[in-house]
Amino acid sequence: MPKQEIKIHYKNVMADVIGGEHGISPEQLKDLAEKTSPLIKQLNKEREAGETPYRDLPYNSEIAQLVKELVEELKGRCENLVVFGIGGSALGNIALQTALNPYMHNIDENQRAGPRLFVFDNIDPEQLSSFLDWLGDKLDKTIFNVISKSGWTAETAAQFMIVRQLLLDKLGPDDCKKQIITTTDANKGILRSIAKNAGIKSLIIPEGIGGRFSVLSAVGLFSAAMCGIDIDSLLEGARDMDTRVKCEDFKKNPAAINAAINYHFYNNNKKISVMMPYSYHLKDLADWYRQLWAESLGKKEDLTGNDVHIGPTPVKALGTTDQHSQVQLYREGPNDKLFTFLQVRNFDKDIKIGPAPEYAQELGFLAGKDLSELLNNEKRATEYALLESERPCLTVLFDRVNAYTVGQFIYLFEVTTSFAGALFNINPYDQPAVELGKEAAFALMGREGYEQLAQEIKHLDEFDEGYLV
Ligand code: PA5
Repeated sequence: MPKQEIKIHYKNVMADVIGGEHGISPEQLKDLAEKTSPLIKQLNKEREAGETPYRDLPYNSEIAQLVKELVEELKGRCENLVVFGIGGSALGNIALQTALNPYMHNIDENQRAGPRLFVFDNIDPEQLSSFLDWLGDKLDKTIFNVISKSGWTAETAAQFMIVRQLLLDKLGPDDCKKQIITTTDANKGILRSIAKNAGIKSLIIPEGIGGRFSVLSAVGLFSAAMCGIDIDSLLEGARDMDTRVKCEDFKKNPAAINAAINYHFYNNNKKISVMMPYSYHLKDLADWYRQLWAESLGKKEDLTGNDVHIGPTPVKALGTTDQHSQVQLYREGPNDKLFTFLQVRNFDKDIKIGPAPEYAQELGFLAGKDLSELLNNEKRATEYALLESERPCLTVLFDRVNAYTVGQFIYLFEVTTSFAGALFNINPYDQPAVELGKEAAFALMGREGYEQLAQEIKHLDEFDEGYLV
């Protein structure tokens, strides 16, 4: 069977489809190719020099092996898997589950090949209380995977401390540590020293890989493999995409083209980038992409230290749901967006629409059709309507949604992000603005060493009565 490649269709961003005012002319595409082509070589060199270690994750069989061994050891005694993490330490896990396990997997044991999965990427006390109430005495059948690259994120630390105490109280110190797996840096951070001191099993996030580029490391692979996802196919898909995004011919390199088109529209008054999957399975990949794009490309300074305050704003929408919520704005509001649809050619399951009642024969046009046909035609219809309004549209086409194609998608967008970073001349791998918020939270919670920052923030402590209405 031929391999199922995902493809980007970019005809509908071109001037001959949406007109010269908003579309890309052949000359502009040629200029983009000339600007981007040297960057392909540059990125390949940086990668060979070990400067972008996320690029090598699909080839790291050691991580996959360790993950599989741990899964083998735990699966017989794990009915519930809980992931504690935030941002890059959670969004990939959520996206993989939604993409590759059935909608009802947590409810229906016939629809899952592993434990139930719960990912907590927030610290709402009511949400966690409700979960812990449900969990009750099932603690000994529950594994808690605490993920933090830095090991210092307050939200994740708090979740860990809550559950550790619960486990200590209910199961005692020996059994407590058997229920926790940490995933963190090999040497740095408080989570690493906790794991060492308490004798908790731990997986490693390789050096130099930020959270949003870490889904193909133990961060994403462990929960995926626990829940029956074929991580070998996922990594194979990423490796196969690697051969395509290395290609020095711009026209054959989907990451270079994708980044160049996004860069062009950003510079031509389309600073908002909407990703709109027409597939429930793909919906949380759009959330994962939103973080990848926002944290990587939203930067104050360029590489020479100039203030540029650059970065496209990624927006997630879902077809067809958001046709009935956002498309009015998308068509008639400002023409300031680039649309990226995710479309699936073949659905693994389909449903035939029933016959129209005899007293409602007007609905006969739907009768007997597949639901997937309606879904994909809704996508075509929306794209047509947007093109009529001269809005540029890309489509990422999945032959099917499976671990192999999802692996390709992840790697494609990670490398697209690297290309976009190079085009914008910024560093896509840091997130200094997130760090300040983390430090401010430490200060507000009274962490030692942050007293001065706490003083600086103090004026925000209270609401000003004069402005409360
Ligand atoms: O992508 C990133 O680097 C961030 O979103 C982090 O993943 C997030 O802030 C959580 O950090 P950590 O994994 O260190 O707890």
